[in-house]
Amino acid sequence: MTQTQTPKSDLGGRFTLPGTSLTPNRLGYGAMQLAGPGVFGPPRDRDEALAVLREAVDRGIDHIDTSDFYGPHITNQIIREALHPYPAGLTIVTKIGARRGADKSWPAALSKAELTSAVHDNLRNLGLDALAVVNLRMSAGHHHPVDGPIEEPLNALVELKRQGLVRNIGLSHVTPGQVQAARAMTEIVCVQNQYNLAHREDDALVDGLAADGIAYVPYFPLGGFSPLQSSTLSEVAAELEATPLQVALAWLLQRAPNILLIPGTSSVAHLRDNLKAGSLRIPPEQVARLDAIGSGAEAQGSALPRNG
Ligand SMILES: NC(=O)c1ccc[n+]([C@@H]2O[C@H](COP(=O)([O-])OP(=O)(O)OC[C@H]3O[C@@H](n4cnc5c(N)ncnc54)[C@H](OP(=O)(O)O)[C@@H]3O)[C@@H](O)[C@H]2O)c1
Repeated sequence: MTQTQTPKSDLGGRFTLPGTSLTPNRLGYGAMQLAGPGVFGPPRDRDEALAVLREAVDRGIDHIDTSDFYGPHITNQIIREALHPYPAGLTIVTKIGARRGADKSWPAALSKAELTSAVHDNLRNLGLDALAVVNLRMSAGHHHPVDGPIEEPLNALVELKRQGLVRNIGLSHVTPGQVQAARAMTEIVCVQNQYNLAHREDDALVDGLAADGIAYVPYFPLGGFSPLQSSTLSEVAAELEATPLQVALAWLLQRAPNILLIPGTSSVAHLRDNLKAGSLRIPPEQVARLDAIGSGAEAQGSALPRNG
């Protein structure tokens, strides 16, 4: 084995999305950073973007998170150029529910017509006949998920699943109440919300979904556009001879067995760094110190954008 290969067993083990044959490695990849600045327009370095995707798959990553509103369209087109025809076993998860304004804004796009058009945009730009998992993203324009009816857009997505265009349904940027309402309507295989060492609002939701075998996929696992910073995190990283961001990812892997990671990067070097988190084990004493970060005062950074 060459130095550039990472055994799949080093990617945090596997998790089966409920009711499916999809069993990705727990350490995946989030493609949002592949678009241009502000997740808008073409990347600064398209060759590097293609290289990141190819390196990810070469190293065993078999779960890529995307959306056709990244770019818009551009991230999916890059994924297609880099990886199509897709290797067997690669799960591409996308999301719908927002669109991009010319001013780079992220308005909601939750009408039946908009959701249908978004599914077709994803199919076309990814070069697929059906989408493995589509997350319904709610609360566009809000920093935190806000309670509100989910039935109408979810019904539209259920109809697209019935038509065979969507195989499985997930949720994103949702409240626990919306998760509950959605689960009463249809099978939900994953929930994607903001969560990391410093943002623990979803602790109870993570545990509840774990008990029910549903995947929880934290977005901004590294803190998003402002990577996590904390003196405790830096100290623990030094003790473990790892980087703070590797520790942040390893902490998530140890937090709950249903957590699937989709750290984003536009850099092959950063991708390689992040993959090492799959084999990093954090002893209980250090986990306890890291747990305390989310309890308040000490966490810094994570001045996060409103959407994605
Ligand atoms: N559902 C939603 O509403 C939603 C919202 C946001 C994101 N997402 C999804 O979640 C995924 C992850 O979120 P994210 O990419 O925004 O945030 P993230 O994974 O928390 O962090 C990405 C940031 O960290 C940097 N980074 C990554 N690895 C690094 C390393 N080893 N060393 C130093 N810096 C590093 C990246 O810059 P470089 O490019 O320079 O590495 C980028 O600025 C996205 O790709 C997207 O698929 C979903």
